[in-house]
Amino acid sequence: IPHPLNIAVAGTGYVGLVSGVCMAHRGHHVTCVDIDVKKVTMMQQGISPIYEQDLEELMHLNKERLTYTTDYKLAYKNADVIFIGVGTPELPDGSANLAYIATVARQIAETVERDCLVVVKSTVPVGTNDKVEQFIKDFLPTDSENEILGKNSKIKIEVASNPEFLAQGTAVRDTLEAARIIIGTDSIIAKETLIKVYEPFGLPIVSVSRRSAEMIKYAANDFLALKISYMNDIANLCELVGADIQDVAKGMGFDGRIGDKFLNAGIGYGGSCFPKDTKALDYLAKQNGYELRTVKAAIAVNKDQKVLLYKKACKRLITFNGLKVAVLGLAFKPGTDDLREAPSLENVPLLLAQGADIYAYDPVAMDNFRKIFPETGTESKGEQGKGSIKYVESVEEAIQGANVCFVLTEWGEIKAVKPEDYKRLMRTPLVYDGRNIYAVEDMKESGVEYYSIGRKKFVVSR
Ligand code: UDX
Repeated sequence: IPHPLNIAVAGTGYVGLVSGVCMAHRGHHVTCVDIDVKKVTMMQQGISPIYEQDLEELMHLNKERLTYTTDYKLAYKNADVIFIGVGTPELPDGSANLAYIATVARQIAETVERDCLVVVKSTVPVGTNDKVEQFIKDFLPTDSENEILGKNSKIKIEVASNPEFLAQGTAVRDTLEAARIIIGTDSIIAKETLIKVYEPFGLPIVSVSRRSAEMIKYAANDFLALKISYMNDIANLCELVGADIQDVAKGMGFDGRIGDKFLNAGIGYGGSCFPKDTKALDYLAKQNGYELRTVKAAIAVNKDQKVLLYKKACKRLITFNGLKVAVLGLAFKPGTDDLREAPSLENVPLLLAQGADIYAYDPVAMDNFRKIFPETGTESKGEQGKGSIKYVESVEEAIQGANVCFVLTEWGEIKAVKPEDYKRLMRTPLVYDGRNIYAVEDMKESGVEYYSIGRKKFVVSR
């Protein structure tokens, strides 16, 4: 490429690492910085610390242009552009925690030795870029400090916003083939520099002000969250009035103004973005004396949706105490080992509290889940009302002899389970499907008592 840049990326989570690797793939020289020594050592050995399709392959392919380090000084000192991709987790009040961003901003101020552009990629409340710019200025060495250090005192650091729209599981593709790249800048230099970064990607670039860029990210994510919650709301009504949400969604999706994506009703959205970003925008509105009623409603619907099937099951059964309960899928969606805000995290404790003996299966997220809910060993069989949890290596093993089954993630191999398998393997074929992945009629034919979201239910008499 004509102008390869020296790029540093702070934070090697989904956003930071994937962006860094993709920028290297497009010809830039990229140094990825993380404070976690274990992660950095892994990456230096060519191993990706996160599960993401194609990522390791690209790390390998571009290893000439990729450096991984814990030494931020080394990375920032001579960078043309520094991307900040650290986390902005939710604080108890729903606001975004900007502590990690601030730490990086301060480190940048204290180490850069020439003009550079700082780009905030993390999702941050509107106005944060302004604050980051001020923060960096406040921490730049004073003239007298520069004199002692023998450093150039005329360093200019600009700050730009460049939100990220990648989804987990398809992060690499989403980055290399993004529908658009949003660059939010308040100066010509910043804009030109960011265009140099993204020109080699050959994708549409939308150039707006910093505040608009920050808002685009929240508005886009919250719109999708709203879309899902809306469909979940309609699904619940469908059940009551005898309509089928999948037919309804199909009919809606043909309208180009609505679009056919993100219309799947289910057990609620999870993940690292929608839950956090809806709450953060709601908080931002409140801070500004405004009530964001639509987003508030999406949050409320989602909260109830996550435990909807559990509640349905509670109505159907006397208790879960001593029942063998298969839980299929733990990750918040297929293609990732991420558990953040996953419905499994809500449902498993509820089932355990009722004394269920859980047999859990997920093709990639089990190790992470085990860290939160360690295996308990033997089945409790209802004694003392204390439940148990066991991790198994296959769907079959999980449903074998089970009294109830909950489907929480639509992994391909869970979708591939045949209704007959539930009938044959479970002790009582009672299935609660949070992802609407089986045909209602097929389940009926096989004699499985099947409950899903917003579709027909029926009870088989046994
Ligand atoms: C999302 C956005 O898609 C991405 O643009 C943004 O940058 C980060 O947040 P991600 O959280 O990785 O990405 O996953 P996504 O595929 O969007 O799914 C989010 C949640 O919504 C999942 O829990 C998923 O199960 C749920 N979902 C999605 C539905 O319930 N129904 C749908 O129709 C689509």
